[in-house]
Amino acid sequence: MKILLIGASGTIGKAVTTALANQHDVIAANYSGGDVSVDIGNQASIKAMFEQVGNVDAIVSTAGLANFSALAELTDADYDLALNNKLMGQINLMRLGKNYLNDNGSVTLTSGVLSQEPMQGSSVISMANGALESFIKAANLELENMRINAVAPIFVKETMAMMGMDTQDGLSAKDTAKAYVAAVTGTMSGTTLAVTDYV
Ligand SMILES: NC(=O)c1ccc[n+]([C@@H]2O[C@H](COP(=O)([O-])OP(=O)(O)OC[C@H]3O[C@@H](n4cnc5c(N)ncnc54)[C@H](OP(=O)(O)O)[C@@H]3O)[C@@H](O)[C@H]2O)c1
Repeated sequence: MKILLIGASGTIGKAVTTALANQHDVIAANYSGGDVSVDIGNQASIKAMFEQVGNVDAIVSTAGLANFSALAELTDADYDLALNNKLMGQINLMRLGKNYLNDNGSVTLTSGVLSQEPMQGSSVISMANGALESFIKAANLELENMRINAVAPIFVKETMAMMGMDTQDGLSAKDTAKAYVAAVTGTMSGTTLAVTDYV
């Protein structure tokens, strides 16, 4: 399969690349560098990426920005980032990318466990994750000849270590990547894959 992976240089993206690259042709798209650069917050940039890459069998996003912040401290910019990047940035990968998707291809986007298990400071992240998961469930009812799913990671051990947190309750990036492999190679559609189900 020819797979376009947006966010390939990230903590999760690197592990997904490693998991897929043995058997598939993975094209790495990052904000800067990689095989192709893209800003998912900018539709013209997404279009230019697909023009450059051409048709693919799978689109995978391990990108999407949104900030942790106490509800009382959230600014308009925090809401805008979550909506324009994490939510619409990924939805636009599907909207613009489906014209470049081979028949029976798939789109796999990244939400996160904070949609179902929020914590203090997660409001805008939970908002974007929940909206993304609901969008995928509904869009799946109308999309033909393609599959669409979300993967909902829990805290990744490597990210927790970078933040100086205890990593005990996290999942390694390598184990997190298994859900993305399942989404790309499986037959499910309209679903959100919980990473702990694929370890
Ligand atoms: N890590 C966790 O614990 C965790 C838990 C739950 C959910 N998630 C979700 O999983 C996803 C990936 O997380 P991560 O920790 O692997 O992220 P990360 O390490 O920060 O990597 C982010 C990736 O996205 C790319 N990127 C940044 N801004 C972009 C933009 N505007 N357009 C296109 N690509 C952009 C980066 O490219 P450059 O390297 O060029 O900047 C990089 O490849 C995010 O949606 C995050 O919310 C993560």
